[in-house]
Amino acid sequence: MKVIRLFTAASTLALSAGLTQAADTAGWSYKDIADALHAVMESDRTVYTRLIVNRLQNEEKVIKASEHWKDDKALVLPAQMFRFGAEMVAEKDAGFTYSLLSEWPINKQNAAKTDVEKAGLSEIAKTGKPFYKEETLGGKKFFTAVYPDKAVAKACISCHNDHKDTPRRDFKMGEVMGGVVLRLPMK
Ligand code: HEC
Repeated sequence: MKVIRLFTAASTLALSAGLTQAADTAGWSYKDIADALHAVMESDRTVYTRLIVNRLQNEEKVIKASEHWKDDKALVLPAQMFRFGAEMVAEKDAGFTYSLLSEWPINKQNAAKTDVEKAGLSEIAKTGKPFYKEETLGGKKFFTAVYPDKAVAKACISCHNDHKDTPRRDFKMGEVMGGVVLRLPMK
């Protein structure tokens, strides 16, 4: 709990500089750092989906969420909210990257590309537990973690199962719908 509070309070920027050093000096393993970063991402994602999207769109029917949120004057989709954050972190050169992928993507850009992503998505769908593996990309070594992304609100399954571009229409509550891929560069 202490760790999570620490990361919630610190900005991602403040964290970034010390990421790899932390693993060396403070007894933090790559896995510890990845897990802590993911705890923040998952919590923010769940809160946004439950308290904003599910409440306002599905329960109170005040406003919809839409891919075309600007034109439609709608809420940003949870996946877009997540990606906009990931893009901002990438711009900051924060020392780690993350994305939201799936074996059943609505947006084909969100399919697995690397072997580790493919293995990770397949494994987490079976076990419901995180998957960790070292990966070499472009001559650089990374610690790659893949975390299950589960249907935590009705809005998740209703939107995906009804979407015109979805390759899968039988998602149920609590099920793994995809995965968060988080990469830390290794020394
Ligand atoms: C209102 C509709 C809507 C809601 C609610 C919604 N999604 Fe999505 N989701 C989408 C769309 C559309 C995409 C593709 C967005 C993109 O990449 O441009 C997407 C993307 C994703 C992806 C990446 C793979 C893909 O399908 O492209 C995952 C995983 C995912 N959503 C899981 C969830 C989970 C879990 C929830 C609930 C916490 C959720 N979604 C809520 C519509 C929705």
